[in-house]
Amino acid sequence: TIADAAGELGYPAYVIGGFVRDLALERPSKDVDVVCVGDGIRLAQAVGQRLPSRPRVTVFKNFGTAMLPTPEVEIEFVGARKESYRAESRKPEVEAGTLEEDLARRDFTINALGLSLNPEDFGTLVDRYDGMGDLRRKIIRTPLDPDITFSDDPLRMMRAVRFAAQLNFDIEPDTFDAIARNKERIKIVSQERITDELNKLILAPKPSYGFKLLFSSGLLQLIFPRMAQLQGVEKRGQHAHKDNFYHTLQVLDNVAEAGGDLWLRWAAILHDIAKPATKRFDPKVGWTFHGHEDKGARWTPAIFTELKLPLGEEMRQVQKLVRLHLRPIALVKETVTDSAVRRLLFEAGDEIDRLMLLCKADITSKDHQRVARYLH
Ligand code: CTP
Repeated sequence: TIADAAGELGYPAYVIGGFVRDLALERPSKDVDVVCVGDGIRLAQAVGQRLPSRPRVTVFKNFGTAMLPTPEVEIEFVGARKESYRAESRKPEVEAGTLEEDLARRDFTINALGLSLNPEDFGTLVDRYDGMGDLRRKIIRTPLDPDITFSDDPLRMMRAVRFAAQLNFDIEPDTFDAIARNKERIKIVSQERITDELNKLILAPKPSYGFKLLFSSGLLQLIFPRMAQLQGVEKRGQHAHKDNFYHTLQVLDNVAEAGGDLWLRWAAILHDIAKPATKRFDPKVGWTFHGHEDKGARWTPAIFTELKLPLGEEMRQVQKLVRLHLRPIALVKETVTDSAVRRLLFEAGDEIDRLMLLCKADITSKDHQRVARYLH
């Protein structure tokens, strides 16, 4: 149908971007993006009229795009464009362009793939930047000079890391160096958009990989400094305290592997952030912690606010998990009383299963025996 409508209007049309990438990777994909060399809104309306269900086309005039809902997927239509962003501005200057120009302004080679919808070569792959090669080699690379791609839209630095984590790909060295060089430009992007990418990264099968890339590129220090500060082993003479950054990442991976949802993963990330503030070095006993539960309870909303995460029910769940999780770990160092266990079970209520999952994820082999009593 799209091909017919495009043919009638005389617009060459292509399926582009994430859909083609996910098709090649045999991954499920939600939305289809169609780029035509012509007026995307007119094409969407022409396609809508040809469908028996007569779907309502939603037009976004300012963006020059239109969305067509179908029972299976949403299809977005846009005219091919060349785009350049003025320095220090988020508003792109958009002009109509050719297919070539449209592919060149995209973020990564694996997202700059097109499938022809034109009668003469229907289904033919358009791959100007060897995106298929990069899919095979498992590489994230920009189609143009990465300094240009990232200064056009600095959020793409987060997207590079997010795709690397989701797909378990490497970031090509020149692309990675450009992230490290351009990282400060992430400041012009809204926190909401940064956090969206962060959440996608956290939902990856092995989120530690994404966080390590964020840390080594220097982005983490800018977008989530409190987490970056967990890094580093502290030493006082003979007594070293474990590196909380890598420990937190291990707990996060354990939670991810056990199928934990986004909010349990956030609880894993936050479970140690309160500790540095409560940590004391006592020459007789070594490292000690005081007032964890309190800090866990207070820091969660502060961090959710900083990162513009939603402050509703999900935040309260995370806060409860962080607060209660700090309790058994603190208590296992002492004798565990039945009444302490009862109180924990009572307070955890509906969250008991997720709390236990988080505790298990945080158990080092040394602690295991002692905590086992809690888990039964
Ligand atoms: N794109 C881009 N730069 C961005 C965002 C998007 O070049 N900052 C392009 C890419 O070609 C991308 C397409 O627009 O494939 C669609 O973007 P989006 O829907 O955000 O991402 P997907 O690639 O579809 O991936 P996902 O659905 O996982 O977000």
